[in-house]
Amino acid sequence: MTTVRALVYLITTLFFVYGVMRLRQPGTARSGNTLAAVGMLLALIVTLVGVTIHHPLLLILGLLVGGIIGATSARLVPMTAMPQMVALFNGMGGGAAALVASGDVLRVVPGSPGAAGLIIALIDILIGAVSFSGSIIAFSKLNEWMTGRPITYRGQRTVNAVLLGLLILGGAVLVITGEAGHGAVFLAYVIGAVALGLLGVFPIGGGDMPVIISLLNSFTGLAVAATGFLLGNDVLIVAGTFVGASGAILTQLMSRAMNRPIGNIVFGAFGKLQTQGGTQAQGVVQQTNPEDVAILLSYASRVVIVPGYGLAVARAQQEVNELMTRLEAKGVDVKFGIHPVAGRMPGHMNVLLAEVDIPYQKLYDMEAINPEFPRTDVVLVVGANDVTNPDARANPGSPIYGMPILNVDQAQRVIVLKRSMNPGFAGIDNPLYLNPKCQMLFGDARQSLNNLLQALNEVVA
Ligand code: TAP
Repeated sequence: MTTVRALVYLITTLFFVYGVMRLRQPGTARSGNTLAAVGMLLALIVTLVGVTIHHPLLLILGLLVGGIIGATSARLVPMTAMPQMVALFNGMGGGAAALVASGDVLRVVPGSPGAAGLIIALIDILIGAVSFSGSIIAFSKLNEWMTGRPITYRGQRTVNAVLLGLLILGGAVLVITGEAGHGAVFLAYVIGAVALGLLGVFPIGGGDMPVIISLLNSFTGLAVAATGFLLGNDVLIVAGTFVGASGAILTQLMSRAMNRPIGNIVFGAFGKLQTQGGTQAQGVVQQTNPEDVAILLSYASRVVIVPGYGLAVARAQQEVNELMTRLEAKGVDVKFGIHPVAGRMPGHMNVLLAEVDIPYQKLYDMEAINPEFPRTDVVLVVGANDVTNPDARANPGSPIYGMPILNVDQAQRVIVLKRSMNPGFAGIDNPLYLNPKCQMLFGDARQSLNNLLQALNEVVA
C-alpha cells in the first residue's frame, strides 16, 4: 500500500506541476485549474484509503459542508469580491494547518512528535495562525466590515516585535519542558500567534491587501509544507512548497509593479495620509459627451482601451467588448493596454476581459503597449486612474513616483471614463486630467459605454 500511495502521490505532483504550468496562459488556465483539482482529489482518496478512519461520519460531514460552502460561494461571488474570497480561503488553509499541528502537539494524533517534530509543529502553528487571523482582517478590510484605513498607534512595531519575541520564548519553553508545558503555555502560544496576525495586518491599508494576501498565502504554503514534514506526507510537502514559492514570487511581482518594496507595504501604513499634494499641475478639466467621443473614435485608425478598477466596479466588460467589435467593424485597430496592478488583484483585468471572450492577442502588457501610444489616435481610459498618472514618471514628490505607468498621455487624444474627479486607490490627484489632450466622460463606466454605443449608432450611421 505504501508503494501504491507513493506512486499516486507522484502522479498527483505531476498533476500539480502541469496544472500550474497551464495557469500561465489565460487560454489554458481553466484546464490547468481542473487538472490541479483532480490531482488534489487523487491525493485525498489515496490518503484515506488504507488508514483506519475513527469517525467516518465526521469526515463525510466535513467534506460535504466544506464542499458545499466552497462551491456555492465560488459561484455566487462577484468578480469585484474575489480578493476577499481568496483571503478567506487562504485563512482557512492556514487555520487548518495550525489545527493539525496543534493536534499533534496535544497528541490527539497518535504518536509522539519528538523534539524535532515539536519544533516543526510550533513553527507550523505560528505561521498558520498568523495567516489565519491576518487573512480574516484582510477579508474584513476588503469587505468593508471594518475600516480599510491603516490602524496605527504609537509603539506599534515595538509591540509586534515584543510579541514575536515572546512567542519564540514560549516555543522554546514548550520544547524544553516537553509534555509538562502543554497546558497554559501552549494555550498562550496559540493565542499569541493569532494576536500577531491581527496586529500585523491592522496597520496595512485596504488597498494593499492583495499583496498581503499573497504574502499570507505564501506563509500558508510554508505551514502546509511543515505539516507535510510532521505527518511524513510527501504530497503536502510538494503542494505546500508550491504555494509558498508561488505566493512569494507573486508578492514580489506585485510590489515591483507598484515600485514599493515589500517592507514599505508591510510597515509603511500606505493610505494613512491622503497625500493630495502629489502634483502642482495647473490647468482646466475638459468635459466631453458620448456624441463627440463617438465621432472621435470613428475617425480614428488606432485606439487603445486602458481598463482599470472602475471597469470591475461598473461590470462594463461586455460593453467594452461590444465597443471593440463595433470599432473593428469600422476598420479601427483596437488594442487593450493592461497594467500589471490595474484593478485590485493580479490578473484582474485579464480575467474580466477573458470572461467576455476578448481575444488574448488583443491584450498587451505595459512593456508592449507603451511604445504604441505615440502613434495611437485615441486612448479610452475606462475606470483606470493611478496606472495612468504621469506624476509617477515625472514628479519626485508624488507618493507613487517611480511606479511604472501606462504612458497614455503620449497618445494624440485621451478620453477618461469615470464618475467624478475623485482619486483612485493611491488617494492622489492625476494631472493627466488637466492635460489639454485629455477629456473626461463623467458617469458610471457601463452607462457611459452604453451611451457611447448608442451615439455610434445615431451620430455615425
Ligand atoms: P484606481 O487608481 O484605484 O482608480 C480607479 C478609478 O475608477 C477611480 O478613480 C474611480 O473614480 C473609478 N471608478 C470607480 N467606480 C467606477 C465606475 N462604476 N465607473 C467608472 N469609473 C469608476 O485603479 P487602477 O488605475 O486600476 O489602479 C489600481 C490601483 O490599485 C493602483 O494604485 C495599484 O497600486 C493598486 N493595487 C493594485 C493591486 C493589484 S494586484 N491589482 C494590488 C494592490 C494595490 P470615480 O470614483 O471618480 O469614478
